[in-house]
Amino acid sequence: MLMRVRSLIAIVSVLVLGACGGGGSSSSETTSSSTEGEGTTGGQATSSELEGFDSEGFEEGEPTVDHGRGSARELLGINPPPQPWDQMSHADQEMYMVAYVLPIHAEIFAEHDREEFAQFDCASCHGDDGPQRNYEMPSRSLPPLPPEGSERWQRAAQRDPEDWAFMTDVVLPTIRTQLGEPEMTCFGCHPQSTR
Ligand code: HEC
Ligand code: HEC
Repeated sequence: MLMRVRSLIAIVSVLVLGACGGGGSSSSETTSSSTEGEGTTGGQATSSELEGFDSEGFEEGEPTVDHGRGSARELLGINPPPQPWDQMSHADQEMYMVAYVLPIHAEIFAEHDREEFAQFDCASCHGDDGPQRNYEMPSRSLPPLPPEGSERWQRAAQRDPEDWAFMTDVVLPTIRTQLGEPEMTCFGCHPQSTR
């Protein structure tokens, strides 16, 4: 699985970011220099930027994150998908996850808790059985949440205000934007508890 994702990252960084450079979206500004002309060297540079969030190639600007590396949000932007999510093929959805959803969420989770989320991967959202389950959501590995607005929901929010706020104010709005699904709820990722 890891190998497969690695090679996808290489392919996607050329295809998706290349397409982006021509599309004039806000993220094109930061990537255009490395994707110009669809050259053979451009793909190489972009793929290493994506994989390691290297800051190489855009040190001219202000440092964007405290640890001295390029920010995924600066590099990629948080944007809707290039076409409506539910009209994308499964393969395109997977590539979009590799190229945009994972890098952005790896960064925001690491900023929330660098130790706990040092290793943030597809499985962090989809579970280890993600590939077997065709990445169907909700995940079976995320903690189930009580029905929204219920008494147990309120108690859980009070018990864990920091995590709750991070989910409400950062994770949910980010994935909503990235998938272009403004109605998505917590249960787009978390299962709902039955009791
Ligand atoms: C931050 C959480 C998160 C991460 C990390 C993540 N995904 Fe997803 N993924 C989702 C959500 C949410 C959906 C469901 C979108 C929807 O509502 O259809 C999804 C959907 C998918 C789908 C489409 C599934 C379907 O319904 O047909 C694929 C394929 C997929 N992800 C692959 C991956 C891969 C591969 C990775 C790692 C590179 C990854 N995802 C990382 C949240 C995530
Ligand atoms: C894009 C997918 C996604 C969405 C949407 C999402 N979460 Fe999460 N949530 C996660 C991931 C990933 C974790 C980290 C799981 C882990 O610890 O590995 C998490 C963890 C949590 C935790 C911490 C559990 C613990 O282990 O302490 C809580 C609480 C939580 N989410 C609540 C919510 C709430 C409330 C919402 C809606 C406002 C929400 N989540 C929306 C992906 C999501």
